[in-house]
Amino acid sequence: MGSEKKAAPKALVAGNWKMNGLKTSGAELAALAGQLKDMADLPCDVLICPPATLLAHFSEAALGSPIQTGAQDCHPEDSGAHTGDISAEMIKDAGAEYVIVGHSERRTDHGETDAVVKAKAEAARRARLTAIICIGETEAERDAGKTLEILTGQLEGSLPEGAKAANTVIAYEPVWAIGTGRTPTTEQVAEVHAHIRARLEKALGAEEGAKVRILYGGSVKPANAAELMAVPHVNGALVGGASLKAADFFGIISAYL
Ligand code: 13P
Repeated sequence: MGSEKKAAPKALVAGNWKMNGLKTSGAELAALAGQLKDMADLPCDVLICPPATLLAHFSEAALGSPIQTGAQDCHPEDSGAHTGDISAEMIKDAGAEYVIVGHSERRTDHGETDAVVKAKAEAARRARLTAIICIGETEAERDAGKTLEILTGQLEGSLPEGAKAANTVIAYEPVWAIGTGRTPTTEQVAEVHAHIRARLEKALGAEEGAKVRILYGGSVKPANAAELMAVPHVNGALVGGASLKAADFFGIISAYL
């Protein structure tokens, strides 16, 4: 934890809209852009990951604002016969800068393994996108005292060779905290984030590992954001439900203002 002060990377507050949002939701993007408009030198990066159907539209609409855009998943390959999938290159072409990979909902709903997540993170790098690699334990795993072991396995299995802070973000999202209104204690978050930092420094070297942003996700709201974001080695948030409304998302961003 000694390196936290010297090397704390610029925070990232990211919204994962999941399977929510229609064209009319552009009003929320516009409202957020309006709230951030006169804030020069924002102390954190701001990202919205809408559904794929809105990605190009949001990317264009966000131009000239501090808001960046990202996708929620990508296919490992750049093109081909994969009906319904989108590649990292297509995401880049739509104007986005980031892609979430290995979200627990994809690991569960689509059976994504660490190896698949790693291939997707590699695709992101190939397309010059930043991958937000999600890891997190289930409640049963936490109750069994296996949290750190599970996270180590997911991190080491999902992190591509030669990952860099410039193209990699880690999001710690305890599965049991997603969409439940429950969050870990700040002590639990601190323990996990320090552990992830140590593993990153081991995998990427001390200097590079210290620069990788580690986000916390799972029931982040305006009311708990400041407390969670103040935990050492928490370099931002990955927000689901509370990112859908500009006022709530701005309330979370305000933890950094
Ligand atoms: P909630 O903020 O709705 O709990 O979702 C968290 C999440 O899964 C973000 O990726």
